[in-house]
Amino acid sequence: MDTRRFRALVVEESADGIFTKTVKERAISDLPAGEVLVRVAYSSLNYKDALSATGNRAVTGAYPHTPGIDAAGIVAESAVADVRPGDSVVVTSYDLGMNTPGGFGQYIRVPASWVVPLPAGLTLKESMILGTAGFTAGLSVHKLSTAVAPDRGAILVTGATGGVGSVAVGILARLGYAVVAVSGKADAEPYLKKLGAREVIGRDQVTDRYDRPLLKARWAGAIDTVGGEILATAIKSTEPMGLVTCCGNVASAELNLTVYPFILRGITLAGIDSQNCPMHLRQKVWARLAGDWKIASLEEIHQEIALAELAGRIDAILQGRLKGRTLVDLNR
Ligand SMILES: NC(=O)c1ccc[n+]([C@@H]2O[C@H](COP(=O)([O-])OP(=O)(O)OC[C@H]3O[C@@H](n4cnc5c(N)ncnc54)[C@H](OP(=O)(O)O)[C@@H]3O)[C@@H](O)[C@H]2O)c1
Repeated sequence: MDTRRFRALVVEESADGIFTKTVKERAISDLPAGEVLVRVAYSSLNYKDALSATGNRAVTGAYPHTPGIDAAGIVAESAVADVRPGDSVVVTSYDLGMNTPGGFGQYIRVPASWVVPLPAGLTLKESMILGTAGFTAGLSVHKLSTAVAPDRGAILVTGATGGVGSVAVGILARLGYAVVAVSGKADAEPYLKKLGAREVIGRDQVTDRYDRPLLKARWAGAIDTVGGEILATAIKSTEPMGLVTCCGNVASAELNLTVYPFILRGITLAGIDSQNCPMHLRQKVWARLAGDWKIASLEEIHQEIALAELAGRIDAILQGRLKGRTLVDLNR
């Protein structure tokens, strides 16, 4: 039995159904079986981690549990030839942090098929400033750019100061798209303009409460991260043959629409699922995030915290109060 100890955030459920989050010592032997043991250098906080850390059974079925859907670090042990001890790797998605102990611990053990070599052009730290949110922004831009060129008109990005939104604004601006960023934060404009947004508007300007089937066309496409009325409004106000991506539900999981945007304007609604993204596309998107999509503002969009500071940030992300990305340094 491997009794080496490490620190991890452990979420526990009390007999009266209260969920607590405490940094505790764990042993390597507590980790599940797997081919690759990774010494985690950095993780990051995603919305899904906050759901896991607060007892959301759709994300995590059993507690005690260590969340963290993102991890980047150095391979400590490997049972397969193409992943070697000492390799720098990124592990995101699949079951990491959901029902498999995740990146909010100093070690993870995972199947080799979940492991992505750290792409050339990114440090471990930069890969986790991006993390699942940045990867999802990359997948969304990948989808959007197949249908809508920068000269077609403005692109709407919703939940723009969030993790996915911030990275999407940065990549789109870098590619020459005119970005209209939607934010509910009163102080969002300087932040989003620095990331490259052309215009910043409030949520009320993209919330149609009259259930009209179609609205005046205003955008060539949209990257939506919030769902609900804002996503429905984005679809109803996209120009003919435009494309709207959908990845999240922080506002609502409901989508109240008629078929008219699709049959009268040829709009495409593209679902984004980072968790089950096939490995060839996963590596392609990571390579672009490290290369021609690498945003200059990675330093500006993140705050770095220690494991012990996670609990407070988990509450803040659930309340939609965070801006950008929260990087977790596992060595602090
Ligand atoms: N499908 C996938 O593979 C995938 C992958 C990653 C994330 N996601 C999902 O994508 C969503 C965004 O993730 P994230 O990491 O960017 O989360 P995040 O950092 O918490 O950002 C979400 C942003 O949405 C806006 N927002 C919050 N509450 C809102 C509300 N009630 N109505 C309208 N806007 C609201 C806020 O931005 P403003 O204040 O600027 O408006 C907030 O910062 C989440 O639902 C997450 O679970 C899905």
